[in-house]
Amino acid sequence: MHSKIVDMSGQIDEILLKKEFDKQDIIFLLQTNKQEAKKLFKAALETKLKYTDNKVRLRGLIEYSNICRKRCLYCGLRNSTIKVDRYTLTDEEYFSCIEQAIKLNYGSIALQSGERQNEEFINKIEYLIKKTKEISNNSIGITLSLGEQTKETYKRWFLAGAHRYLLRIEASDEDLYYKIHQNDELHSYKTRIDCLQNLTEIGYQVGTGVMIGLPFQTIDNLANDILFFKRMQVAMIGMGPYIPHPSTPLWQYRDTIPTKEERMFMTLKMIAITRLVMPQINMVSATANQTIDPLGREKAIQVGANVIMPNLSPTEFRTDYDIYPDKACVQDTAEQCASCLEIRMRSINHTILYNDWGDSLYFKKHH
Ligand code: 5AD
Ligand code: SF4
Ligand code: FES
Repeated sequence: MHSKIVDMSGQIDEILLKKEFDKQDIIFLLQTNKQEAKKLFKAALETKLKYTDNKVRLRGLIEYSNICRKRCLYCGLRNSTIKVDRYTLTDEEYFSCIEQAIKLNYGSIALQSGERQNEEFINKIEYLIKKTKEISNNSIGITLSLGEQTKETYKRWFLAGAHRYLLRIEASDEDLYYKIHQNDELHSYKTRIDCLQNLTEIGYQVGTGVMIGLPFQTIDNLANDILFFKRMQVAMIGMGPYIPHPSTPLWQYRDTIPTKEERMFMTLKMIAITRLVMPQINMVSATANQTIDPLGREKAIQVGANVIMPNLSPTEFRTDYDIYPDKACVQDTAEQCASCLEIRMRSINHTILYNDWGDSLYFKKHH
């Protein structure tokens, strides 16, 4: 009766059959080993195929500018890091990315940049959004990833034609948030939450996410991150492994974090559990996955992710968009990435969804 041998595999089966996971279930799943996690991964893939499909949605990524007012303690673009050559794409450079997107049949772009809030920047983005809609005959979907802004700015960009917005919470635990950001006006947890709420109220499909394997991060934190995603009822998730950058303050803790393999494995478990908890959301397989594992992006797709963001930025600027070291595809042209992804996705029985905005089914259902 009181056998000390715990039947882990039985317990996993039991948890995976549940309609809703509680925090203990999530913690259990996050702690499964390679062998046990296979069941989790299989269930997550089945859920994805059942509630969505085997199609991978593309967002052509345009890294518009690496100028940033913030000083996030993990990011190579932080304002006080002097080694970076700062750039902003000219309008011509930006529009040639849009032409590429159209030529390659990417149905959507993601416009990303360091955070800036001045009027000139806000106007410029508004103009670029409107023009993008115009030259593509409204055929291109626009996701923004431009950090924290006032509600008014978010509204202007929405009215200009953007319809999705990514703003990672980075760490949903407030204490951990302030271990990876300074605690000041510029880096306020509350502001970030307010931004997510404002974006939702305006009508964007909102995405958030966290980094996995951060210094000071616990399993408890990660389980709470998943519960946070659910509570916020977001339509999209983008999360990936943390990669230490030598010119940032958090670099000093690099020996305290899990190994690359461990971070990859934990990322896959986070993605799989999130897919089970939120079956119809869009979830990105981050480029950072490929930095720590050559097959990282494919692996994430196979355990529940369904979005990839191939880089569309002009090759000459890619190394300057130096968020973390060893970014994948920095040497590759947009065309090379397009055919590379086609082959990679086919190799894992997925197909790419072209010429489509690829909105999340979760959002379509709830609005
Ligand atoms: N490792 C991994 N991801 C990072 N980001 C920033 N710095 C790093 C890093 N060192 C992620 C953040 C941000 C996104 C643009 O890049 O999550 O939201
Ligand atoms: Fe700026 Fe974003 Fe980097 Fe923070 S993570 S320093 S906001 S580019
Ligand atoms: Fe960029 Fe493979 S996706 S080279």
